[in-house]
Amino acid sequence: MKATAKAHTNIALIKYWGKRDEPLILPMNNSLSLTLDGFHTTTSVAFQDRLTADQFYLNNRLVEGAESRRVSIFLDLIRKEAGRTDVCAEVHSTNHVPTAAGFASSASGFAALAAAASKAIGLPVNEQELSILTRQGSGSACRSIYGGFVEWEKGTKADGSDSHAVPVAPADHWDLRVAAVVLSSDEKKVLSREGMKRTVDTSPFYPAWVQSIPDDLEAIKEGIAEKDFEKVGEIAEANCLRMHATTLAANPPFSYWHSTTLSIMQAVRQLRSDGIPAFFTIDAGPNVKVLYTPEHEDIIRNTLQNVPGVHDIKVSRPGQGVSFI
Ligand code: ADP
Ligand code: DP6
Ligand code: CO
Repeated sequence: MKATAKAHTNIALIKYWGKRDEPLILPMNNSLSLTLDGFHTTTSVAFQDRLTADQFYLNNRLVEGAESRRVSIFLDLIRKEAGRTDVCAEVHSTNHVPTAAGFASSASGFAALAAAASKAIGLPVNEQELSILTRQGSGSACRSIYGGFVEWEKGTKADGSDSHAVPVAPADHWDLRVAAVVLSSDEKKVLSREGMKRTVDTSPFYPAWVQSIPDDLEAIKEGIAEKDFEKVGEIAEANCLRMHATTLAANPPFSYWHSTTLSIMQAVRQLRSDGIPAFFTIDAGPNVKVLYTPEHEDIIRNTLQNVPGVHDIKVSRPGQGVSFI
């Protein structure tokens, strides 16, 4: 009753921001992401009769408190589904991505956990079922089941049985680059879960966000199919700015940005003025992801490295979906 799985993070080009059902993690809007080969989580799950409680080790340290409870509550879903509510698990996870810093550790983390735990307990591991299950650990994680460009269909059913990811285009469809510009790997003050809830509950800009999604989604899917880089980049950047705008109007207001976040946004705009196509997007954290095509690698790296406050740049290509080791 042991299995190990590996999953990559993903960067949302059309963001998931807001839940219509919190326990089931059903989103208000469809979202679309690119799975990244540069960041991943590896998780081993061993269900053992001798254990009286789950044990969750993250990066070789035993974790207690909220993070550990979140894993146990997720394992409960799997135990219930498998009819094995009696058995506890030892979980060992390694994040090859900063944890809770806006690099989508919850996505690679829960996708790897869902796959390893399902296999270990003997549940079927077809991708759609796995995506539905994974969604209930962390919403963005349901997209990391697949590689390449992936859409999360919000679904319409109250039980969430039609809310899962679907592949849009495989990793080898388009040789894009995503530079993760690292300013800070500190854990964020407002976790994604809390930030989106506060926004849904209090931001007067939130309804406008939801209304803006269908047009963005249709256009970005055309752009991906046609490999129209300008179109995809422009839509992703605008969608990101709209998401972050909702947080400024929340009560109490908040922002994930640091001053260096703005400097990088400005550097990317300057690159475009100089004729280099590059676009940014930002998840729930201060760090910026810059999209570009491989021929502009050198100029983009040099430019970003020279922005004061930048600690590191990690370049990803489109990555694969979840796999077993
Ligand atoms: P991020 O931007 O990294 O996705 P979130 O606020 O969405 O940040 O989620 C961070 C939370 O995800 C952590 O506090 C922890 O509860 C959970 N998490 C991160 N990595 C793992 C992992 N490998 N296994 C299980 N849970 C994880
Ligand atoms: C800004 O999936 O981390 O990165 O479902 O509460 O676990 P929970 O939140 P999470 O939220 C991700 C928000 C985002 C946008 C995105 O990835 O689509
Ligand atoms: Co997350």
